[in-house]
Amino acid sequence: NGYFTFDPGFMSTASCESKITFIDGDEGILLHRGYPIEQLAVNSTFLETCYLLLNGELPNEAQKQEFITAVRNNSAVDPSIANLIRTFKNDAHPMAVLCSATAALAAVYNDQIDITKAEDRKLTAYRLIGQIPTLAAMVYKHLKGEEFIAPDSSLDYAENYLHMTFGKAGQAAKVSQVLAKAMDRIFILHADHEQNASTSTVRLSGSSGTNPFAAIAAGISTLWGPAHGGANEAVLNMLTEIGTVENIDKFVAKAKDKNDAFRLMGFGHRVYKNFDPRAKVMKQTCDEVLAELGLEGEPLLAIAKRLEQIALEDDYFISKKLYPNVDFYSGIIMKAIGIPAEMFTVIFATGRAVGWYSHWDEMVSTSYKIGRPRQLYTGYTERNYPTK
Ligand code: CMC
Repeated sequence: NGYFTFDPGFMSTASCESKITFIDGDEGILLHRGYPIEQLAVNSTFLETCYLLLNGELPNEAQKQEFITAVRNNSAVDPSIANLIRTFKNDAHPMAVLCSATAALAAVYNDQIDITKAEDRKLTAYRLIGQIPTLAAMVYKHLKGEEFIAPDSSLDYAENYLHMTFGKAGQAAKVSQVLAKAMDRIFILHADHEQNASTSTVRLSGSSGTNPFAAIAAGISTLWGPAHGGANEAVLNMLTEIGTVENIDKFVAKAKDKNDAFRLMGFGHRVYKNFDPRAKVMKQTCDEVLAELGLEGEPLLAIAKRLEQIALEDDYFISKKLYPNVDFYSGIIMKAIGIPAEMFTVIFATGRAVGWYSHWDEMVSTSYKIGRPRQLYTGYTERNYPTK
């Protein structure tokens, strides 16, 4: 009615102020608290990056150790959550189970969170970052019909996740350092990405003053979709469906056909119109992991590399500025590590939990308003209810 801005898909609307993450999509720049993602991926660790996102500065050694210890001490989940996960059918999608289990953390901790108190919010951050990999591993174990493995506080974050995922009852998993490092890097590369659909959901949900675990569960629901975090699972399914390098042209033609809804999964981004800096690091990590495992001849990698090359040279993809995004190579790495495709988005969520939480915390620790968009009404004008 004349005084609202109509902006479907929020193509040009800034919904908040934030000091956490900066993206320049034209230049392919991603900074967390000012630090380039390429430098964090190579020189930092996931938990150090978590500290940075949450607190605004890198920790000194004592702060880092205190943070690591607090996260480790909060990594075991309440038995009610294990019981809840067991009630789902084994082949339920892991994202549905993760979403429910995370929402259930609100049931466990609701009476211990006063969101106006910084100490409560800090403890909630430790609980979320500590327990999300435990939940992710439990979700996997349930999918496989295996017993849950308790967290091991002597292990690093990514090592512990792999231990809880691949360990068997009474037998520790042998975790290769290269794979643990790759897993840690995957978590770093997914840690935050400013106001994407899931983070905006967490902020909008949190703006009502709801329990933060409930807000994070809303973010997990949003991440699940194939246009967002679900793309990593969709990429692997697509590469499997393409099957051979010879078939690629057929799929590229489908992606370009206006009358065909098919899209090349792992290509394109709302903000990056030059390249996705996370994809560059992910591709390099992919090469390292496959070399470590002696899997350089992995057929899916050959298809991925050829597909990328064709898309980068093709006029359609060039004119629409479609480049490989973060999800294009992460699936190949996770598959090589032995993680099934249904779990890929769960791993994305595990890394992203800190980003969601940092945004929620940034919002509730300053003055904020409940999010309440308006609409462009295109329905009936007023009319009378029919009476006899
Ligand atoms: N394959 C073929 N054509 C595409 C693709 C693609 N992957 N992506 C966009 N297009 C075309 C689209 O058909 C449209 O064409 P036209 O101008 O003729 O209508 C044009 O490019 C613009 O697309 P859009 O959907 O309006 O762009 P958007 O900014 O709203 O969408 C996107 C961005 C990421 C949802 C989209 O590129 C896409 O669906 N990509 C595939 C899924 C994917 O890889 N998602 C992961 C994103 S990165 C990680 C994350 O955010 O979680």
